[in-house]
Amino acid sequence: MELLKRLTQVSAPSGNEEGIRALIADELSAYVDEIKTDALGNLIVRKKGNGKKLMLAAHTDEIGIMATFIEDSGFVRFAGIGGVNVHNAIGARVRFLNGTVGVVYYEEKKSAKDAKISDLYIDIGAENAQAAGALVGIGDAAVFMGGFEQTENAVISKALDDRVGCYVLIQALKAAKGCPNDVYAVFTAQEELGLRGATVSAYGVDPDMGIAIDVTDTGDTPGSELMSVKLGGGAAIKVRDSRLLAHKKVRELLIRLAQEKGIPYQLEVLQRGGTDAGAISLTRSGVPCGVVSIPTRYVHSPSEMASMGDISACIRLLCAVIETRID
Ligand code: CO
Ligand code: ZN
Repeated sequence: MELLKRLTQVSAPSGNEEGIRALIADELSAYVDEIKTDALGNLIVRKKGNGKKLMLAAHTDEIGIMATFIEDSGFVRFAGIGGVNVHNAIGARVRFLNGTVGVVYYEEKKSAKDAKISDLYIDIGAENAQAAGALVGIGDAAVFMGGFEQTENAVISKALDDRVGCYVLIQALKAAKGCPNDVYAVFTAQEELGLRGATVSAYGVDPDMGIAIDVTDTGDTPGSELMSVKLGGGAAIKVRDSRLLAHKKVRELLIRLAQEKGIPYQLEVLQRGGTDAGAISLTRSGVPCGVVSIPTRYVHSPSEMASMGDISACIRLLCAVIETRID
């Protein structure tokens, strides 16, 4: 889990994926045939084979915030980068790319319950606008801080969305024996801003099949919405989310491989949210797509939680996909 820890702790809000890209390229260079970066910041890793083109996608970016305005008092106003939840943000710490740390809080005269992002501010400990301006500029990006912890069965960190997907993809590429397909593993940029990296990289790769690896919600916490996915229940094979109806061919391939290899799995219907597979599926004249999801609690909070058993099930399933000739 040392590699997963390192992946989660890199700061890479959407559009600032350089650091995480370098770490992944370094980790995979001995195992693959080609590594390149495209104009939007997708890291495209190719493992050559003489079969069909299989695109595997995990996003490298994480949600964050961007400074929009500095008050005379030195407090910093901000906008979300991706789906920032107001309640998760209050009391959280953020770290700007230059290292400046701040606390997010709300205007106490208003109620925290009704607060919008525009009612929040970041306190970087500066006493006035000039001091603040020396530390943070308009347009500067920051990520939420959330250290990596391990319990007996689970890991907790910021940015498991989607560094755990990157981890699964890296480990599956390393473990795969043989490569009957022409594999393009794309570590995508700007997913949290609307699947932008996947949109352009899928156009470039022009794959015959696409599989995204990303986190999904669970329905197993007190008072959570009804959903059949649970932590520890195995790799989640997506049936549907807001951006994708998983292609039957891909869904059935994933289920068959899980059954053949004895890998625990569960079926996933996600009511809100999407993944890179949504964008890949609508590329050119359409691409059959599916998703291997890592069940994750508290997605888009600084303390996301996933099960080590589920992570290993996802690695084994993805490895089986890489080793199987697709048609
Ligand atoms: Co996300
Ligand atoms: Zn994600």
